[in-house]
Amino acid sequence: MPGESKSAAIIQTQSSLLFYFFLSFLSNAASKTPFSPSVNYLIDCGSSNPAELQDGRIFRSDRDSTSLLSSDEDIQTSIDSINVNASSSVPPTSLPLFKSARIFTVKSTYTFYISKIGRLWVRLYFSPLPHPSYNLTHAVFSVQTDRLVLLRDFSVKDKTSFVFKEYLVNISDSRFSLKFMPKKKSLAFINAIEVVSAPDNLIPDTVTSIPPQGHFHGIFNHALQVCYRVNVGGPPLDSNQDMLLRSWENDTSYNVVPQGSKNVSVSKKDIKYPETGEVTLLIAPVSVYSSAMEMKDPQVNQPNFNLSWRMNVDQSFSYLIRLHFCDIVSQNLNQLYFNVYINEMMGVASLDLSSETKALATPFYKDFELNSSAITNGSILVQVGPANLQQGMPNAILNGIEVMKMSNMADSLDGFFSVDGKYRGPSSITLFLKVAASIGLGFSFTAMFLVAVICFRWRRRPHGWERRHSFSSWLLPIQSSHHGSLCSASSKSSSRRSSIAVSRKSPGYLTSNGIGRYFAFDELQKATNNFDENAMIGVGGFGKVYLGTLEDDTKVAIKRGNPSSAQGINEFRTEIDMLSKLRHRHLVSLMGFCDENSEMILVYDYMSNGPFRSHLYGSNLHPLSWKQRLEICIGSARGLHYLHTGAAQSIIHRDVKTTNILLDENLVAKVADFGLSKANPEKSHVSTAVKGSFGYLDPQYFRSQRLTDKSDVYSFGVVLMEALCARPVLDTTLPREQVNLADWSLQQHRRGMLYKIVDPRIADTIAPRSLNKFVEAAEKCLEDNGADRPTMGDVLWKLEYALRLQEAVWKIDKNEEDTTTANSIALQQQKQSGGEKGDQSVTRAKEESDVTDVDSMLLSQISHFEGR
Ligand SMILES: *[C@@H]1O[C@H](CO)[C@@H](O)[C@H](O)[C@H]1NC(C)=O
Ligand SMILES: *[C@@H]1O[C@H](CO)[C@@H](O)[C@H](O)[C@H]1NC(C)=O
Ligand SMILES: *[C@@H]1O[C@H](CO)[C@@H](O)[C@H](O)[C@H]1NC(C)=O
Ligand SMILES: *[C@@H]1O[C@H](CO)[C@@H](O)[C@H](O)[C@H]1NC(C)=O
Ligand SMILES: *[C@@H]1O[C@H](CO)[C@@H](O)[C@H](O)[C@H]1NC(C)=O
Ligand SMILES: *[C@@H]1O[C@H](CO)[C@@H](O)[C@H](O)[C@H]1NC(C)=O
Ligand SMILES: *[C@@H]1O[C@H](CO)[C@@H](O)[C@H](O)[C@H]1NC(C)=O
Ligand SMILES: *[C@@H]1O[C@H](CO)[C@@H](O)[C@H](O)[C@H]1NC(C)=O
Repeated sequence: MPGESKSAAIIQTQSSLLFYFFLSFLSNAASKTPFSPSVNYLIDCGSSNPAELQDGRIFRSDRDSTSLLSSDEDIQTSIDSINVNASSSVPPTSLPLFKSARIFTVKSTYTFYISKIGRLWVRLYFSPLPHPSYNLTHAVFSVQTDRLVLLRDFSVKDKTSFVFKEYLVNISDSRFSLKFMPKKKSLAFINAIEVVSAPDNLIPDTVTSIPPQGHFHGIFNHALQVCYRVNVGGPPLDSNQDMLLRSWENDTSYNVVPQGSKNVSVSKKDIKYPETGEVTLLIAPVSVYSSAMEMKDPQVNQPNFNLSWRMNVDQSFSYLIRLHFCDIVSQNLNQLYFNVYINEMMGVASLDLSSETKALATPFYKDFELNSSAITNGSILVQVGPANLQQGMPNAILNGIEVMKMSNMADSLDGFFSVDGKYRGPSSITLFLKVAASIGLGFSFTAMFLVAVICFRWRRRPHGWERRHSFSSWLLPIQSSHHGSLCSASSKSSSRRSSIAVSRKSPGYLTSNGIGRYFAFDELQKATNNFDENAMIGVGGFGKVYLGTLEDDTKVAIKRGNPSSAQGINEFRTEIDMLSKLRHRHLVSLMGFCDENSEMILVYDYMSNGPFRSHLYGSNLHPLSWKQRLEICIGSARGLHYLHTGAAQSIIHRDVKTTNILLDENLVAKVADFGLSKANPEKSHVSTAVKGSFGYLDPQYFRSQRLTDKSDVYSFGVVLMEALCARPVLDTTLPREQVNLADWSLQQHRRGMLYKIVDPRIADTIAPRSLNKFVEAAEKCLEDNGADRPTMGDVLWKLEYALRLQEAVWKIDKNEEDTTTANSIALQQQKQSGGEKGDQSVTRAKEESDVTDVDSMLLSQISHFEGR
């Protein structure tokens, strides 16, 4: 063939961009396209020879495209491979492109020079070909442009699969880069790339929005990813049947009511594109409009049903949906009226194609923007059904569907991370609620490494132990201590106990109760009136908590685990493990346990004033004063500070919240519930599945799953705001921006209106300077970035300071109240001008230089707080 020999000759003589454009020109000519793209880069990556497709396009070889490629280091490989078999998910004509690939071991960039700005198709082909030294099924990588994330942490796990991705991006620069970024220690690969101009008027800027029905402006600002392109009622179409080289599927896999639908088609020559207007051959090929689905026997059967198509999508994105219509079923004008629904919402009511097109068999299309908030089922449902009008015949048709994903606020089409790797998703609250709804993780008690821990423990038991088949076989070593006499009521022999060698690290602050008393089951039965429901004071994921009265009239809280619950065993395990290591005035203390009859029961000191939260809201308890709240916050901060720094290992509580801060009869705060806690051996971070309570969860931990003690600091910041505002941390009955206390209070604070949300019952009694200091502490705790948050020690310092400022006001004579006010104003002003972004020591120095006489006296008192 003369064409072939000509290109062969060119290949031998040239290998430049010029040559490439010439080839592109040839390929356009071959496909008889009236639209000739001004930008037309076609690359068959990794191949040694250009590849020609059935549609006439020629993809240039890898060697001819290396001038476009740059990378951090020059270690890339290309592979050539053969034996590629057909697959239904990709355009069949593109199969030759999957025969070779280029592998990147470092970040690499293709740079394309764009002669005409506007929308570009970017089409990517992936298939993990076999290679002797690289396993492409293990490759994990991202594909980005300068502004957009196209794929993030993408991989093709199945070595026989062919993946085709198609994007429409709007370019306003003369340069366009496509970056392949292997994840750490991984690879990236690509089989073929197309970067081709799209017609200007293909995608409009304004479309119909759902919901609410209206206009959506600004499609131009979104990149699009083609998810589905369906020729409804007709055959699949190859790229050589479409002027824009798109391929179309048939609707077999999406039609929800195939039994009610019937395909109709007319001869292609009967389709008349309108002389003027937007609908041209470029919008969709004739074959799309010459075939459709209509209702099967609409007049005979029950006439009232909808034709429906369902397509699965990622519901965190909004979508551009284009529906194609062409009335090929009516005999006369104005006979066909039907409704169009998208996700069960009205898209077009009583659509009359005749009045839209003024003629039969004339193509028409309609675009909709479907907001992600309306996609609840992970799918898009397109329905057409007869409008309930007396005129015309009850029928409905649809010729084609295109579904395109719209880039989100992170300028991403894959996840919520933008090109700089920053998270720019919906505010944490919506995400939390979505996650909560989808995985049912509504409460805070969750299982951890269960059997593993027990087995581990069991295997590590010291030699010479006799095998014991009870709960205490792993529990005992933890609870036994120097207080051997405490194990009194036990029926077990004390000799057994003494045989257990335990070396416990410095126990820190020992409560008067000691540890490890063994309780007999009937003793606890008696204490709780046989676990009477009336004695129940709480329920958790592990089981129930009862109030019990021992024979000596001591009140105790009795946590009775459900032995059949693996989760229970786990949390018990963690709790005992933690509490056996920790002794502190501000941590709840374990009195003992019972493991008779395979029961798992823990006995604690009873905290007669219950959880902190019930004193803030949701009960009729007398509101706590500001001083009391401060003292409780300080107490719990001490407890947490001890957890983070005091024990041999740094411990992260993971579930800091007002219901886990318990108050004893003197309103002394004690941090409780260590069921989720984790030791942090390296004192850096722990990678772990996200657990905790919504509303308190550290957004950084949520995003990165890296747990640090700063996650507790964040949760504690929420506790502080809760103590100040006395409202739930998540209140979905409030307007959207107010739902999440952490977000809302910070917002109000920045606007200088925090006073509006302070608990009105105590607002008047708070000294302004004390409030400032307190809010400053809370705000710092709620910093988005963990590294910017203070340590619990710093928080504690600030809270102590806030308390002294409050106390100082009471001590100062009434006459001096004015001075105090003046001071607080000065402090505020300084704060505004000073931009307190410096490190802790700077902040502290500033505070110290700012102190009044009263303060300096107080400061000396509190500077030793860390001595526990
Ligand atoms: C392609 O299919 C043939 C049989 O139809 C099979 O022998 C061959 O291994 C397949 N090649 C690949 C790469 O799957
Ligand atoms: C691309 O975006 C710009 C605005 O950023 C807009 O003016 C232009 O019309 C868009 N072009 C296309 C083809 O969408
Ligand atoms: C590549 O990894 C996959 C999945 O782990 C494995 O099944 C396959 O055998 C590996 N291939 C080679 C060549 O190592
Ligand atoms: C739709 O296309 C698939 C393959 O592309 C084919 O197997 C199927 O038979 C087609 N369905 C109809 C109704 O033509
Ligand atoms: C309906 O589809 C089937 C299978 O694709 C095809 O054989 C038949 O010709 C079509 N009928 C009409 C009226 O187009
Ligand atoms: C068609 O679908 C819409 C939206 O889902 C629904 O409101 C309507 O009742 C349906 N019509 C019939 C006749 O089922
Ligand atoms: C979706 O709707 C929300 C408000 O309901 C709006 O803030 C958001 O911008 C919309 N998203 C798109 C892509 O239209
Ligand atoms: C959700 O989608 C499934 C199919 O994916 C469908 O069967 C189910 O009816 C849908 N539920 C709702 C409420 O739309």
